[in-house]
Amino acid sequence: MYLISTQEMLKKAQKERYAVPAFNIHNLETIQVVVQTAAEMQSPLIVAGTPGTYSYAGTSYLVEICKTAALEYRFPFAMHLDHHEDPKDIETKVKAGIRSVMIDASHHRFEENIQIVKNVVDYSHQYNASVEAELGRLGGQEDDLIVNDKDSSFTDPDAAKEYVERTNIDSLAVAIGSAHGMYKGEPKLDFERLAKINNKVEIPLVLHGASGIPEAMVRKAIELGICKVNVATELKIAFSDAMKDYFSTHPDANDPRKYMEPAKAAMKKIVQDKIRICGSAGKL
Ligand code: 13P
Repeated sequence: MYLISTQEMLKKAQKERYAVPAFNIHNLETIQVVVQTAAEMQSPLIVAGTPGTYSYAGTSYLVEICKTAALEYRFPFAMHLDHHEDPKDIETKVKAGIRSVMIDASHHRFEENIQIVKNVVDYSHQYNASVEAELGRLGGQEDDLIVNDKDSSFTDPDAAKEYVERTNIDSLAVAIGSAHGMYKGEPKLDFERLAKINNKVEIPLVLHGASGIPEAMVRKAIELGICKVNVATELKIAFSDAMKDYFSTHPDANDPRKYMEPAKAAMKKIVQDKIRICGSAGKL
């Protein structure tokens, strides 16, 4: 009842020109951090998990933790399937209560991509679940999904228009130069391309690979139509670096309730900062 789709929250973001952050989580602690922080800041929230995360923690465990968190904070948010590729797996998770789907068929050819995505849209919309899909291909690494530079490609604005019309998706993930994971140098985003896509396409646009993109660039992307900003790697780095620091000063530590605390606190700072950058605080 408290897990919602992204449909309304992204439309509101589009209208009021901010973005909703989507934070990748892995377990109880990381869910606690993102939900508590978003509730404190009154920010709409998307809690995202890759297929790897759902298999690691178990879909029903994650769904129940999210529902409990939503009830505790009286805060409906979207629980999201990030980069899911298997339509059957998506069906099972939608049946389990998840109402926000990303079907990633970006590695298929255009026509095939459309067909796969359209089928997932037809299915998911029966449950009022929103669907995001990707056209073009992001480089970098997100869990088990690894795309080499030579296999990455940018979103074509005209193709995007046709893709959105024919698939009936609710939001479009664009490939404009961002990549999953941290960047070696300064990332280069193709804002001209983003503006063109935004002119051709009416639905909210999604920026993947936001870890390590400077604040001014994220803000500019939001001005040009980005309504959902995905963050994963920076959260993992903050969490694990704080834990490493803790163990280096407490080599005998063995109580997860103690060594997870600094990790959660470090991750929380990143979550607060991303909510601020997205301009989503107070937009619930
Ligand atoms: P980063 O790991 O680069 O933050 O990307 C997250 C993402 O796009 C999830 O889909």
